[in-house]
Amino acid sequence: MLCLGIETSCDDTSLALIENGRALAQVMSSQASLHALFGGVVPELASREHSRLIGPLFDSLFASTGRTPSHVDVVSVARGPGLLGSLLVGVSFAKAFAFATGATLIGVNHLHAHLMIAGLENTLELPALGVLVSGGHTHLYRIESPTEFISLGKTLDDAAGEAFDKAGKMLGLPYPAGRHIDELSRLGKADNKLFPRPYTDNSSLDFSFSGLKTALATYLAKHPDLKTSWNPETGERALENSQGLPDLCASYTAAVVDTLTLKTERALKAYPGCRSLVLAGGVAANSSLRQAMAELAKRFSLPFLVPKHEYCTDNAMMIAYLGNLLASSGYHHPLGFEAIPRGRAIPNDMVHNTRLASVPLS
Ligand code: KG4
Ligand code: ZN
Repeated sequence: MLCLGIETSCDDTSLALIENGRALAQVMSSQASLHALFGGVVPELASREHSRLIGPLFDSLFASTGRTPSHVDVVSVARGPGLLGSLLVGVSFAKAFAFATGATLIGVNHLHAHLMIAGLENTLELPALGVLVSGGHTHLYRIESPTEFISLGKTLDDAAGEAFDKAGKMLGLPYPAGRHIDELSRLGKADNKLFPRPYTDNSSLDFSFSGLKTALATYLAKHPDLKTSWNPETGERALENSQGLPDLCASYTAAVVDTLTLKTERALKAYPGCRSLVLAGGVAANSSLRQAMAELAKRFSLPFLVPKHEYCTDNAMMIAYLGNLLASSGYHHPLGFEAIPRGRAIPNDMVHNTRLASVPLS
């Protein structure tokens, strides 16, 4: 079975093929350098770029694999959450493709796909505790099955990645700043008293990172010399000659990592019976977060799964993987299903055809 995955929910245009449950190929075009000029994603520019790029990427995916569109059995697309204009490019493309070829159409939840891809190369034992940390999302889920995700907690304001990106903007680092703060942190020593572990003095499994940003702004107002600068045209950063910036990055990272780990530990205690711990999303690339979560999993004697880096950031393989799983269990969407922007609940409107089902999912 050949499944085409399409991802256009934010600022990465990506298409991928899964053949008989295995990754065959993926193509990707990131718009990061375009949006970096504005210090964040500009929705109107993102959707225009998706529209410009999706056709050529589609052609190059098939040219590189020797498959033709008529070989595709299932077309799976990220239907939300995300930027509506961006989602509509992928969803409209997938609908047109399904209509033209007769392939089974399925719209998948981008967040669920981020976590489920952990099962591509490793056995994902369910139920699992899923920690999703990206530029737009911070969620804790109990994953019962590929169709049943119980939301245990989420951010009330900024996402973990946003906490890094906004800090980076204040520090004068390039966007997206997570990777740069991570690199600097590894050269520094954390002062665990410098920043709060926000929104942990309660029993909630939700997160709130906006106060951390304010704490950093207040600190920087007193220590303006710690800021660096970079040139958006060349991507070059001024070389700092003091230990101050690496130490500050290490302290800030420790605050984010401790907060995420603390709430994850609480979730594992509150919802016992999880058989694995999954960390996914762009922030899963963070070295201290990976280490802290791996140690946590070890303490709970759980397998720890993190998708490989290219499947942690936004990618179409995860969309193909989950769509393939759902379609091979008999699910599909009719042409009328909608793209769902961030902030709106994604309806459970898949149609199940028992005659198509090969594997029951739950
Ligand atoms: O999943 P992703 O590619 O896009 C979204 O769906 O948001 O995640 C991008 C986010 C950005 O906020 C970026 O700064 C962050 O992941 N990120 C990191 C690291 N690498 C990427 N954050 C912390 N440490 C990293 N090494
Ligand atoms: Zn994402």
